[in-house]
This record gives sequence, C-alpha cells and structure tokens, in this order.
Amino acid sequence: MKALVLSGGEGTRLRPFTYSMAKQLVPVANKPVLVHCLENLRDIGVEDVGVIVGGHAAQIEATVGDGSQMGLRLTYIRQEAPLGLAHCVALAADFLGDDDFVMYLGDNILADGITEAAEVFRATRPDAQVLVTKVSDPRQYGVAEVDQDGSVLRLVEKPSTPRSDLAVIGVYFFTSAVHAAARAIRPSARGELEITDAIQYLVDQGRRVTAREYDGYWKDTGKIDDLLECNREILSRIDGRPAQRAGAEIDAESVIVGPVVLGPGARVVRSTLTGPLVIGPGSVLMGSTVGPYTAIGRDCVLEDTGVRDSIILEGAALQNVRDLRGCVIGRWAEVRTPGTPDTGRQLIIGDHTRAEVMA
Ligand code: G1P
Repeated sequence: MKALVLSGGEGTRLRPFTYSMAKQLVPVANKPVLVHCLENLRDIGVEDVGVIVGGHAAQIEATVGDGSQMGLRLTYIRQEAPLGLAHCVALAADFLGDDDFVMYLGDNILADGITEAAEVFRATRPDAQVLVTKVSDPRQYGVAEVDQDGSVLRLVEKPSTPRSDLAVIGVYFFTSAVHAAARAIRPSARGELEITDAIQYLVDQGRRVTAREYDGYWKDTGKIDDLLECNREILSRIDGRPAQRAGAEIDAESVIVGPVVLGPGARVVRSTLTGPLVIGPGSVLMGSTVGPYTAIGRDCVLEDTGVRDSIILEGAALQNVRDLRGCVIGRWAEVRTPGTPDTGRQLIIGDHTRAEVMA
C-alpha cells in the first residue's frame, strides 16, 4: 500500500502563521503536524509516500526531506492551486498507479494511530474506506450516512442540514477504483473537486464503500482553537521522566512539577514549571511561571513571564508579561511590557493577528 499526504492548501484559518509557514508545519507538542502524520504512516508499514505540496513546498522539503530518517520514501508532487482533495488524487495518479493507498490530510492528527483501520482495509479491501467520528457540529465537515453494517449510503460535504453526526476524518483508504471517480466528478460550489463527491460517485456506481468509527483522538488542526486543544491532548500523553531533561540546566531555585520535557541546552533559572510541558533545545526561562499544557519551541527566551495552555514557536522572546493563556506566538516574535509606564504601548502586529490588550 502506498500513501498520499496532502500538504498543500492555503491555511487561511491559521493566519497569520500561514503567511510564512505551511499549516502542516505548525508544531503540536513541538513536533510539526506533518511529522505526526508521517509517523502514523510508517507505523502501518507504508514506505512510498506521495506528498502534495503547494506554495510552501520548499519549507516542507527542508523539514521532512526525502523521508529516509523516518524510514519512508517521499515523492513530492506540486499542486499549483488548491483545487480540492480529489484534484490531488488526480495529480498523483501516475505515482499511485494501480496500488491501494491511504490518503492522509497533512493537517489532521490521529493521536492513536491508524493501525486498526489499515488492518481492516487490508483484510476487506472495499473500494473506499472512510473513518468517521461523532461531532457536535457536523456542518464543518464531510458528513456520512452509514447503515448498520458500516456501508456508506451517502456522503455530503459541509451540509447545512446534516443527516447524521458522523464527520469524515481526514484519512481515507482506496483501491485504484477512485481514479475513475476523481476523473468523473465536477467542481463543487466552492470550486473544488471534492473527495466526498468522488466517494459518493463510487457509492452511486454500486462500489463497496465502508465507514469505520475511529475511537481514538482526532483533530483537524486547521483552526487556532483546535490546534490548542490538540496541543493539550498530545501533551497530556507525555511522561516527562527526568531522563527527558538530560542536557538541560535547572538551577536550585527552580521548581518542576509533573511531566516536563526539556531539550538539550535549555536553561531554567528561578522558574516554576508545571507539566505537561515541553521546552525545546536552547530555550532560556528566567523568573517565569510556565505551564501546564504549553509547548515552547527551540531558542525561545522567557523572562519574568507567566504562560500556560499555549504554543510558543521557535525563537520567540517574552519579557515581563504575565497571565498569558491560550496563546500561539509565532517564530521570532517579541512580546514585552515596557519598563517605564509612560512610554505607551507599541504593537507591531502582522496581518490577521489577534491580540488582547489590558485596558
Ligand atoms: C476536509 C474534507 C472534509 C473532512 C475534513 C476533515 O475539509 O473536505 O470532508 O471532513 O477535511 O478534516 P477541509 O478541511 O478541506 O475544509
């Protein structure tokens, strides 16, 4: 079985971060979402992975390379414009050939892996197998109507009046029958070739299409709140043994409570760290109160700062800011409270940024 990972798209819902980085490279618990995805594929024994890339292609290649470090062979396939998930299948037709494949949306995290789903697909080989999960607001997703044996009766993309609460998760298993379907469908109202329409085409042709309920943790990380929730969940799974702090320096005035991972070269001075928490290599924390549920990338500096429930990307510097929570701070961003009260507040904030400032 091959894999097709979709790592293009504009990521408009994750602006401003996606102006300068691919949404699939945003870190969750200090690991890019795309790496979480590739690890799941490696775990089901896939070796050949086609990666659809758009405008941020170079960054994606720089991050995961040829895949050999993960035991994968990656083939990059360029998509010039985000024309839909079924368009990606069509672009990858030569790469995929007649093989069965798993298609994985590179911004989805399935924290409990896809081993069981892959086993069932390999054993039963329907022409399409989707994974579904119950959600409270299905209108934002592809929605499946499924009969008692798990056969899909109908799939609708983002219906305004959903006929079930089963959202289609971004991992799909296919035989080569999907290629004819991807060629047959027409663009949807939003101008995209929808994978849900291609799967519906298979249903209409009398092909066997099945749905399995995913009972692990799943999140589409395409929006800030979902990204933060996912970060919390993945962090809640770390064990943070003292060995995971090897190569970091912690002074005698600092207190560490709960699972805390510190990368090599990280320094903690007069600070209180409450896990679950991961801190990247080379980051320095001074006089700060950090955690729980916070991921701090490499080479950050936090001074006299309090932050919890947040994602801080590589190189960011926070100085003298208290009570930060639910934050996502971009690479090399600086946030600080000025030392003298009468200098006013200076904000240099990029497009589509959100900031809450005290009165
Ligand atoms: C895509 C699919 C949708 C699916 C969702 C899962 O939506 O079109 O059917 O439920 O991923 O994450 P998008 O994120 O492109 O809006």
